[in-house]
Amino acid sequence: MDHFLSMKDLSEHEILRLIKEAEAIKAKKHEPFGKQLFAGNLFFEPSTRTKMSFTIAERKLGMESLDFTGEFSSLQKGESLYDTARTFEALGASVLVIRHPLENMAAKLAADLSIPVINAGDGKGEHPTQSLLDLMTIYQEFNRFSGLRIAIAGDIKHSRVARSNAFALRTLGAEVCLSCKPEWEDSSLPYSYVSIDEAAETCDAIMLLRIQHERHGEDKGMDPTDYLQQFGLTIERERKMQPHAVILHPAPVNRGVEIEDELVESPKSRIFKQMENGVFARMAVIKHLLIDRGIIDAVNVDQRDAIVSR
Ligand code: NCD
Repeated sequence: MDHFLSMKDLSEHEILRLIKEAEAIKAKKHEPFGKQLFAGNLFFEPSTRTKMSFTIAERKLGMESLDFTGEFSSLQKGESLYDTARTFEALGASVLVIRHPLENMAAKLAADLSIPVINAGDGKGEHPTQSLLDLMTIYQEFNRFSGLRIAIAGDIKHSRVARSNAFALRTLGAEVCLSCKPEWEDSSLPYSYVSIDEAAETCDAIMLLRIQHERHGEDKGMDPTDYLQQFGLTIERERKMQPHAVILHPAPVNRGVEIEDELVESPKSRIFKQMENGVFARMAVIKHLLIDRGIIDAVNVDQRDAIVSR
């Protein structure tokens, strides 16, 4: 792997390798790399979980996190994002994590940089590390993807999480169905659309999505209670889910809108487990990028891990 930009770039083997690596790191408490390395975190959209879990992942790997805040930087003096990223590279960052409101921004920067770039969310494009932690959570539950029916429900058209997961789940051989308000259908995703009732009753896992108001322009949308009743996961729908089926949501959650408040922490919910897994999934991605680029030595890292796990 040169960069981590889109789930479309990854084969089934590569996705499973990362999930297993993340699980191994989680199980055996990874030792830091033992080498001074810097990670640049460039976030141009709000973030709590993604930014914090990248920071924790980097620190657990023994890296130093450089947080970039646009408002106090030379971007205010007209410096381009490209020059900012090149500056991080010149100063010695070994990896750049970027979240940006424009699609393909991480990929564009990656093409011009010699260090690995991780897409931490690009507009309506993709969010591959969120997808990886979602997949890790599903894998922990079922230990497979083929034969599973996974529903993705909510604001499909504006969601980068939906896109990354739809691509990856297909690669992994799961059956995907989508459910949303008719105006939020995305014709570029070749899956069948079903009602939220059918999605809840037939799936092994339902992945709910936040309504992406910030990407809707002037449209203020419908009343939250009406939305929940027509398109969200209500308690009545949750009761009709299969006994083994689980609920996922990338968060932030609008309690009482896409999901009934008390379901967020109910037995079927894996929402906080997803957050926990996010740290390990991101550690696995950073570790593999640094190994594949020859920035750290695979043999030494794995030997040290083996010693730690004994
Ligand atoms: C998601 C995102 O930013 O795309 N959140 C996250 O990274 N945990 C989902 C969302 O904001 O709806």
